[in-house]
Amino acid sequence: MSEVKTKMMDQIVQTAAFIRERIGDFAPEAGVILGTGLGDFADKITAKVIIPYEEIPGFPRSTVQGHAGRMIFGEIEGRSVVAMQGRFHYYEGYTMSQVTLPVRVMGQLGIKSLFVSNASGGINTSFRVGDLMIITDHINLMPNPLIGPNLDELGPRFPDMHNCYDKDLIARATRIAEEEGIKLQYGVYVGGTGPTFETQAEYRYFKAIGGDTAGMSTVPEVIVARHMSIPVFGVSVITNCGLSDEVGDHEDVQLQGRKAGIRMEKLFRRMIQEL
Ligand code: HPA
Repeated sequence: MSEVKTKMMDQIVQTAAFIRERIGDFAPEAGVILGTGLGDFADKITAKVIIPYEEIPGFPRSTVQGHAGRMIFGEIEGRSVVAMQGRFHYYEGYTMSQVTLPVRVMGQLGIKSLFVSNASGGINTSFRVGDLMIITDHINLMPNPLIGPNLDELGPRFPDMHNCYDKDLIARATRIAEEEGIKLQYGVYVGGTGPTFETQAEYRYFKAIGGDTAGMSTVPEVIVARHMSIPVFGVSVITNCGLSDEVGDHEDVQLQGRKAGIRMEKLFRRMIQEL
């Protein structure tokens, strides 16, 4: 085995072992990455163990001031979950191995599905600020996190990306949203590196290649989850409309974000309840 490969696998195993020691026999069924809009979800978890990222070996130090991230192990709607409050972005300067380590560790801890949320800029002109978009597929414009020696213990060299966003979970979300009166959009998330927002020409390019929203996260985490064959469900809050001439009113965006968060929290909670 190559040295890089051994080091990466050792890190994943070591980090998982550290966490297992903290959580004892608690076994999370699902992993949740709480992006923008899912702050309320964290408050609904009956936490059993909370581990700040800075205590976790191998986790990078957060570069965003005042955004101390943490892993929350606990129960919601009778289900055992691990939630990540705060994620690592490629634009912060982390390597793709660092960005994706938490998901690989959650895989080692035995999660059976991964729920992700994020904020993104709508490029589908029928989308409005505050809309929730179920991610049906993605286009990756970042470096692929699986570049390098393949970690055969985790998954295959050439992972299939059909059904990347699980069709059964999407169907369940559609039904729940109908029951709850939550309006949903559906579409393709284009993941770029950031940290700049797109130019008008870039938003037009993203639209031309088949995108509905633009964002700077999620895709690396989803790729490593699919490498490990973990089913994924993703939702994006539309916080701005890239192709609109109107410069967004910041307060309105914040308000829409909060309102969307309430709907998102309900949707995620019911999705997990039905696992
Ligand atoms: N582009 C990329 N990332 C984003 C955007 C956007 O317009 N809005 C929120 N995250």
